[in-house]
Amino acid sequence: MNPGDALRRVVFYPATAADLPALAELAGVIWRQHYPGIITPAQIDYMLGKMYALETLRAEMTGQGILFYRLLVDGKFSGFASVGPTETLGVMKLHKCYLLPELHGRGLGSRLLKHCEAEARRLGAQRLILAVNKRNTKAIAAYQRNGFALVQPVVTDFGNGFVMDDFLMAKDFSAGGA
Ligand SMILES: CC(C)(COP(=O)(O)OP(=O)(O)OC[C@H]1O[C@@H](n2cnc3c(N)ncnc32)[C@H](O)[C@@H]1OP(=O)(O)O)[C@@H](O)C(=O)NCCC(=O)NCCS
Repeated sequence: MNPGDALRRVVFYPATAADLPALAELAGVIWRQHYPGIITPAQIDYMLGKMYALETLRAEMTGQGILFYRLLVDGKFSGFASVGPTETLGVMKLHKCYLLPELHGRGLGSRLLKHCEAEARRLGAQRLILAVNKRNTKAIAAYQRNGFALVQPVVTDFGNGFVMDDFLMAKDFSAGGA
């Protein structure tokens, strides 16, 4: 832990529709810092335009039952995540889990992840799944540290010649705790 980190005030809030413009903006900041070297700049632009268009986020929030969360560090909007149902009862999906790069490596990403796990459990999930780019080693390591296991590779076509070359990962919740 870095000196002073223990004094940081870390809070989680559910995001509402009113938060979505700021969330999309934060996504742009994080994606443009984190994804170069993992996917091309053209794909970053394309994916941001597709996944973080306000109408897409609003449809996820209001039409697909996906819940969004904001992470504030010392009052600053610094990260976000989203969790939603799947076609399988008891299985929820972590759709998004993003933290400003300058805050990586302090355990804050793990806290965001744990918050999402707790929410999924509260909503009745026994299993949480996610898809992560095969080259996103930092995120894969964070997920593994938090008890997620690799399940299988999965390739998703996003159109315009862009695909997401991912691993599916999953964590089963025990009846008792962690
Ligand atoms: C995924 C993500 C949220 C994980 O956050 P992170 O900060 O990288 O991971 P953690 O919170 O688990 O931090 C762990 C690191 O902090 C260190 N650390 C310091 N203090 C700590 C503490 N109190 N508790 C836990 N870890 C601590 C650990 O030793 C570890 O260091 P290491 O990476 O050198 O091994 C973050 O990497 C991220 O936002 N990435 C970009 C977006 C992304 O790719 N999202 C996933 C899309 S699928």
